[in-house]
Amino acid sequence: MSEHIPVAGSTEDEFGVPVPGVVLPQEQWARTALKKMPDGVLDWAHLFGRNAARVIDIGCGNGRSMLVSALARPECDFLGVDILPVVIRYATRRANHRGLSNTRWAVIGGRELLLNHTAAGSISEVHCYHPQPWYRRDQVSRRLITPEFLSLVHRSLQPGGRFVLQTDHPLYWGYMLKILPHFFEWRELSGPWPEAPAGMTRRELIAVQRGLPIFRGEGRAKLDLDSERAMQLAESLPLPIFNADRRLLELDRLEQGMGLSAGGRRGVQRDRRNRRRR
Ligand SMILES: C[S@@+](CC[C@H](N)C(=O)[O-])C[C@H]1O[C@@H](n2cnc3c(N)ncnc32)[C@H](O)[C@@H]1O
Repeated sequence: MSEHIPVAGSTEDEFGVPVPGVVLPQEQWARTALKKMPDGVLDWAHLFGRNAARVIDIGCGNGRSMLVSALARPECDFLGVDILPVVIRYATRRANHRGLSNTRWAVIGGRELLLNHTAAGSISEVHCYHPQPWYRRDQVSRRLITPEFLSLVHRSLQPGGRFVLQTDHPLYWGYMLKILPHFFEWRELSGPWPEAPAGMTRRELIAVQRGLPIFRGEGRAKLDLDSERAMQLAESLPLPIFNADRRLLELDRLEQGMGLSAGGRRGVQRDRRNRRRR
C-alpha cells in the first residue's frame, strides 16, 4: 500500500457520513499497529503503558466503530482485530493519523484471540458488529458466533462485563437470540446509536442506507456461570446452522470495497486468495 500523507485537519467520509476524527499534524500521530501477537496472554498494561478498562472489537473491518468509541472514551484502551490484513492496515493508519494512542490493531481471528491471548476475567467489553453469515454450505463452519465462541467471550469478560452484538442478518440474529441468554443477561436495543446516529460501522451504514433492519443487543456476562460450566454448556448447544439469505450477499460485495482505493481492493482480494491457499 503506498503511503499517502494526509493533510493535517483533513477529514474523510464513507457513503456521505464522516469518518470520526480529524487528521492531526504529523508530530502528533500515534503508532497503533500490533504487528505480531505475542505468544501467550497479551499484556495490556505493558502494551498501553497504563491500567485502564479494556475493550475488544472482533471483526473490526475498517475500524469505524472503534474510532467512534476510542475518540469518545479516551479513558479506555481498545484492541481491534480482524482476519483481513488489508482492513487492519487501513484501520491502523486512520487511528495513527488521529493520534489514538488508546487503540491497537492486530490481524488475528476472534476465537484465537480469546482462546490463546486473553486472560479470564480481564476484559471490560467485547464488541462484534456484523459477523459474516457466510453463505456457501462449505463455509458454514467459519461462522464466528458459536456456543464455544460465546463461552470464550463470557470467560474473557470481567464478572458482569459487557458484550455488544449487531447484525443485519435476520436468520443469524434468530440463532444468536437462542444462544446468547445462556451466557449473558441479554437485552435487545433499538434505535440509532446515540454516539453514531447514522451508523456505528461501515456495514451498518450500507445496510441502513438500503433500508434494511439492524438487529442489536447487549448483555452482561452471567455471574452465576463459571468458565468450566460455560464450556460444558457450549458443547450441548446447537451450532449456527441456517440457510443464509443470499439476497444479502450483494451487501458483502459493496462492503468489500471497504472505502479503499483500487490498490486497497486488490489487497482484499490478495488476502482472501492467501487465506484460501492456507
Ligand atoms: C461483515 S464484515 C463487518 C466489519 C465491521 N465490523 C462492520 O460492521 O463494518 C465482517 C468482518 O469480520 C472479519 N472476520 C471474519 N471472520 C473473522 C474471525 N473469525 N475473526 C475476526 N474477524 C473475522 C472479516 O474479515 C470482516 O472484516
